[in-house]
Amino acid sequence: MVVCLTGFMGCGKSSIGRELGILLDWDFVDLDEAIVDKAGMPISQIFADQGEEGFRRSEVAQLRFLLENSTNPIYHDRDNMVIALGGGTIMQPEAQALVDEHALCIYLKASFDTLFHNLAGQADHRPMLSSPNGLKARIEELMAEREDTYESTADIVIDTDGLSPREAAEVIAEALEGYEKATGIPIRY
Ligand code: S3P
Repeated sequence: MVVCLTGFMGCGKSSIGRELGILLDWDFVDLDEAIVDKAGMPISQIFADQGEEGFRRSEVAQLRFLLENSTNPIYHDRDNMVIALGGGTIMQPEAQALVDEHALCIYLKASFDTLFHNLAGQADHRPMLSSPNGLKARIEELMAEREDTYESTADIVIDTDGLSPREAAEVIAEALEGYEKATGIPIRY
């Protein structure tokens, strides 16, 4: 099974995904890191050189590579893999279709206060956060645009407020077991 973690910037997709990979003994891939490795430059530079549109193209291409290229030798156990998506990945219909076809999607839901706390001072690394109106207004604006999509594309929603990455990973592992029991779809291949 490939599990994709989605949710707003700062909700903990990468740290929780890493813990989940350790807990399940599955490969973990951070989509942002994969894009940066492939491009050989940081995300802020990709945005500066190619704009958001260029970044989104690389994002879908990299996701497609991970989800469709099952002979990729980099990942030894790729049938069972956790992928931390970027906060905007699932907003692209092409990415949504890929995730829908190849993976189970988990929305890591965090409150505004948690996101604001985690994202303070992060606008340099996260170009989507820069705004003349300030961080609070920008988070509210993007959340309003994205929340329904996060909810509607997710197979499972996990409330991560107040949980450490390890605790959140444990909650997800339990939810995966519940999903397997309820649907009969095997989680581990
Ligand atoms: C983005 C989120 C970032 C990264 C890029 C765009 C977004 O990932 O993909 O800066 O549009 O929400 P994280 O959610 O891991 O910060």
